[in-house]
Amino acid sequence: MIISVPKETYPGERRVALVPASVPPLIKAGSRVQVETGAGLPAGFTDNAYREASAEIVSDRHQLFQSADIVFQVRALGSNPHAGAADLDSMREGLVIIAPCDPLGNPAAVKQLAERGVTLFAMELIPRITRAQSMDVLSSMATIAGYKAVLLAADRLPKMFPLMMTAAGTLTPAKVFVVGAGVAGLQAIASSRRLGAVVHAYDVRPAVKEQVESLGAKFVEVPLETTGAETAGGYAKQLGEEFYQKQRELMARTVAASDVCITTAAVPGKPSPRIITAEAVHGMAPGSVIVDLAAERGGNCELTKPDQIVVENGVTILGPTNLPSEVPTHASQMLAKNLTNFAKLITRGSEFHLNLDDEIVRTTLAATRGEVVSPQVRDLLGLPPLKTPTDGAPPVTHLVAK
Ligand code: NAI
Repeated sequence: MIISVPKETYPGERRVALVPASVPPLIKAGSRVQVETGAGLPAGFTDNAYREASAEIVSDRHQLFQSADIVFQVRALGSNPHAGAADLDSMREGLVIIAPCDPLGNPAAVKQLAERGVTLFAMELIPRITRAQSMDVLSSMATIAGYKAVLLAADRLPKMFPLMMTAAGTLTPAKVFVVGAGVAGLQAIASSRRLGAVVHAYDVRPAVKEQVESLGAKFVEVPLETTGAETAGGYAKQLGEEFYQKQRELMARTVAASDVCITTAAVPGKPSPRIITAEAVHGMAPGSVIVDLAAERGGNCELTKPDQIVVENGVTILGPTNLPSEVPTHASQMLAKNLTNFAKLITRGSEFHLNLDDEIVRTTLAATRGEVVSPQVRDLLGLPPLKTPTDGAPPVTHLVAK
């Protein structure tokens, strides 16, 4: 079984899908590991570090794909739509790709990979269940984004975060408001608290109140009916425009009273809910900062522009879309762990072993043998549902390592 790790080609991407420390367990399990020349350098891992871990360094990218049984990537085609297309011709039928690939944001790319005969495991589709936590790339990357968002805000804010009692007087702590208390939000709360800020947070899922409070933040009570706002999988459901309208009005006062707003509200596969209006931004004091982590899907703030710095009335609005890449060493370490844990689930030694009765394998499988098989992705593409994940396509157990 050959596992290949190409250099990432998305502009500005510094992460790599496998770090040297994750190579030996794969070799021990009977695989060969090939890494493209220089793939790990932007994340701080030299070719020599991979060699010392018993990986082979390959300079020919086409050959790297051609010879692979499994390819690990940080961004497969869907999340690298332009540069990623250049690799399509190098992919042989039967190749297995394990990678984040934005299947719900770019379902057409899943179809392109299916047509190429690739078996695609879309890591964003990992169910949020306890057993899958060690493979949950979204949680890993959101943790990093939540932390880094706080640092960006602290860096921009013309105030310090902690309370300071100095000989020159007392400095009051910064007030941080975190909207959306999922993985990124909870990490933003924890990181803001560590820096000494006074933190408030809000989420439509009432269940998170206890988690918010356990991190030392205050939960903002908004008198809105949120029963049924949570899916069985622990994500938020999309709520009606009337709800969002009321939420915007009710939260404007908390926004105005905050030095920093970190917004992380997300509904999987849907545009980001609009929570902070331009009017609410105008209500903030000059010098305040908004970091909108939901920028990639349109943003939680009306004035956010992806990857740009907007200054409105003295309020700075940041909409970074790839914060994990700014912390590439740890982001790669976490990704590598998630991907190798998933690879273990679909292999036995150096053979493929695909158990479609396993919820994690079944849910994550996006395409195989020419078919898009993920029900969610099929729905987005307007394709009729399959009776079983592989109905209409031959069973995936045909996969044989070369
Ligand atoms: P998550 O699903 O764990 O958390 C999102 C939270 O938003 C949930 O708790 C949900 O209940 C809440 N929410 C939904 N609608 C809401 C509303 N109207 N008001 C208040 N809360 C609401 O997602 P996760 O993993 O924490 O990611 C959060 C966001 O950060 C996503 O948009 C994700 O794409 C983004 N992200 C951005 C990165 C970047 O570099 N900019 C990197 C990683 C994630």
